[in-house]
Amino acid sequence: MFAAMTTTTQTPGSGASIYLLAAHPRWRDSRVNHRLLAAAREVPGVDINDLYATYPDYTIDVEAEQERLARADLLVMLHPIQWYSMPPLQKLWLDDVLAYGWAYGHGGHALRGKDLWLVATTGGPEASYHPTSYNRYFFDAFLPPYEQTAALCGMRFLPPLVLHGARSAPEAEVAAHVKTFSDRLASYPHWPEMDELGVCPTCEVPDSDRPADATRAGDHPAGRAFFTALQDTLGRANASGADTAHGTQAPEAR
Ligand SMILES: Cc1cc2nc3c(=O)[nH]c(=O)nc-3n(C[C@H](O)[C@H](O)[C@H](O)COP(=O)(O)O)c2cc1C
Repeated sequence: MFAAMTTTTQTPGSGASIYLLAAHPRWRDSRVNHRLLAAAREVPGVDINDLYATYPDYTIDVEAEQERLARADLLVMLHPIQWYSMPPLQKLWLDDVLAYGWAYGHGGHALRGKDLWLVATTGGPEASYHPTSYNRYFFDAFLPPYEQTAALCGMRFLPPLVLHGARSAPEAEVAAHVKTFSDRLASYPHWPEMDELGVCPTCEVPDSDRPADATRAGDHPAGRAFFTALQDTLGRANASGADTAHGTQAPEAR
């Protein structure tokens, strides 16, 4: 279903616009992702956002993110796999930025025709992603949430670039992987397999499934009540000097 990638020749100056989200909760512990990020910084014209550096308090600037994303032809999501999924700040970014009426649903066409490329690492070696091993499923089994997120927004899901066993892979394999990544960024959208990929599937959400006024938890009466209560609690905790790390706040304030 998700074909493996091959390295291709660099074709600079494609004119395509790339927005790269790098999400690693502990860069200082990273062996591979920090090298991928460094390599991306060497490719001219790639707009890079190190999410954990930009939003240490988890308060995402939705308007700014939507502007950067709207400018891009390709969205790259670079991160280590955590609990068979993405790091929490990357997930929050999706929750906040891919808003109803903008990214999908009624009037939500901003991302149609763009590409999404997952560039991920796993701790488990490839052999562990097998029915007879401890991860029990082929790695492809964990990709549909990414692929369908792209599809619902009218985006094409490009073949992911995954390095398995990132903590233990031989140095030569890591170096080759970093080069493949860098070459791919530089040559996008001139990738050999591009013509064989289908067009974006159409996934229309009927208005009846998502009323236009039901946008975010904080806009809904029940959500407002919840966040008011939460703020009261946090206010009391602040008054008593408790630690309120991660900037929990009502969505209205974001
Ligand atoms: C909280 C957490 C959850 C993780 N979950 C998984 C997982 O579900 N599958 C897996 O193969 N590795 C998992 N890992 C390992 C990371 O994917 C691995 O350390 C990372 O890809 C290595 O890349 P890096 O050197 O850039 O940090 C997890 C690591 C952490 C910290």
